[in-house]
Amino acid sequence: MYSQAKVIAGGLAHIPVVIAVFYFILTTFNKRALKFVEEAKTKKTEAKNVEPQKVTVLKTEAPKTEAPKTEAPKTEAPKVVKKKHADVPVNIYRPKTPYEGTVIENYSLLKEGAIGRVNHITFDLADSDPFLNYVEGQSIGIMPAGEDANGKPHKLRLYSIASTRHGDNFNGKTVSLCVRQLQYEKDGETINGVCSTYLCDIKPGDKVKITGPVGKEMLLPDEEDANIVMLATGTGIAPMRAYLRRMFEATEKEKNNWNFKGKAWLFMGAPKSANLLYEEDLQRYLTDNPDNFKYTKAISREQQNTKGGRMYIQDRVLESANELFNMIEDEKTHIYLCGLKGMEPGIDEAMTKAAEEKGLNWSELRPQLKKAGRWHVETY
Ligand code: FAD
Ligand code: A2P
Repeated sequence: MYSQAKVIAGGLAHIPVVIAVFYFILTTFNKRALKFVEEAKTKKTEAKNVEPQKVTVLKTEAPKTEAPKTEAPKTEAPKVVKKKHADVPVNIYRPKTPYEGTVIENYSLLKEGAIGRVNHITFDLADSDPFLNYVEGQSIGIMPAGEDANGKPHKLRLYSIASTRHGDNFNGKTVSLCVRQLQYEKDGETINGVCSTYLCDIKPGDKVKITGPVGKEMLLPDEEDANIVMLATGTGIAPMRAYLRRMFEATEKEKNNWNFKGKAWLFMGAPKSANLLYEEDLQRYLTDNPDNFKYTKAISREQQNTKGGRMYIQDRVLESANELFNMIEDEKTHIYLCGLKGMEPGIDEAMTKAAEEKGLNWSELRPQLKKAGRWHVETY
């Protein structure tokens, strides 16, 4: 039998053992906790020291990983939705760090008796690093030399690219523009646009600050049997020139592995015949591709519309309403509009009338075409 004193003495005798067990547990836990904190600190320092990865094409919009809406079975990989045109380059060069391209050539596109000044200008991109690549239908920014009235560097202006990705000489290392010098009268004085005058005046060998490329609105579809309707006024021909080269220039066709089989129809607005741009090339494409290319001109100051006014491309659209809308009803047809902003209401009005003749409602049809990625507009 145990006496009460013996029980107490026995209990007291276990106290050092219990303390020892507690001490052991505490020190082990502390060591682990310290180790964890140290590891976390090291990881943070390592992350800070990592060099940001260099990329050759900036901001090509990485495909986004879409979170599954309902809980997916664990074995299934997360669904990756590739964004449309994700591989089209954008903003390789930005205003803070533009690329300095060298002018290769700068010549007038106009004939004797033309109005104003419109030039074709080509820049060498060969030493750009990262390489300034682009595709047909994009634009680049130009930062004119000099300062504005507030002593600040001039802001960039956008220009549609007039060359294909292979460039005019097919070496894939140039970009070309089609630029009209802006000129207007104010208080009896002739005002010259800053950037367009700078561009029309630059000489081969000059260095020019270039940004971009930008824009995904005016890209060509991938399908070789797409139909392409183009409505252009003045320098709005720039992207169309690139499309038509891609479709009909023999060397382009060899290089781009894209054998255009659809129908291309260009409506071109110019004030005078002498102002028609790239006319020789367009005539050659017509001769070589009579079944695939149609070219309709509206020469505003030489031709008259049915009301006796200046002939604009919207008047030509109305004349061809039936044929045009037969094409538009084909879902392979894309329509591209480029040039003067002012032509948009006129084109809309003409399309409304043309659609009516076919029993269609343009105000319903246009948003549908836009949504389907078949109505492309870039006006300025
Ligand atoms: P600025 O010195 O900037 O003068 C323009 C300003 O002058 C206007 O903002 C307005 O305030 C004033 N102004 C203009 N006209 C008048 C007038 N009649 N009366 C009174 N004030 C007036 N241009 C091309 O030549 N080719 C292209 O391929 C091309 N592509 C473009 C693509 C896009 C996406 C955009 C947005 C524009 C494009 N432009 C193109 C237009 C180009 O960006 C410039 O706007 C144009 O060259 C004029 O710039 P500037 O510096 O010469 O004129
Ligand atoms: P116009 O100037 O005779 O009125 P450019 O850029 O070489 O001047 O060419 C632009 C063409 O677009 C010109 O023929 C011009 O005609 C024409 N144009 C001007 N305003 C409109 C408009 N609102 N809709 C369609 N075409 C237009």
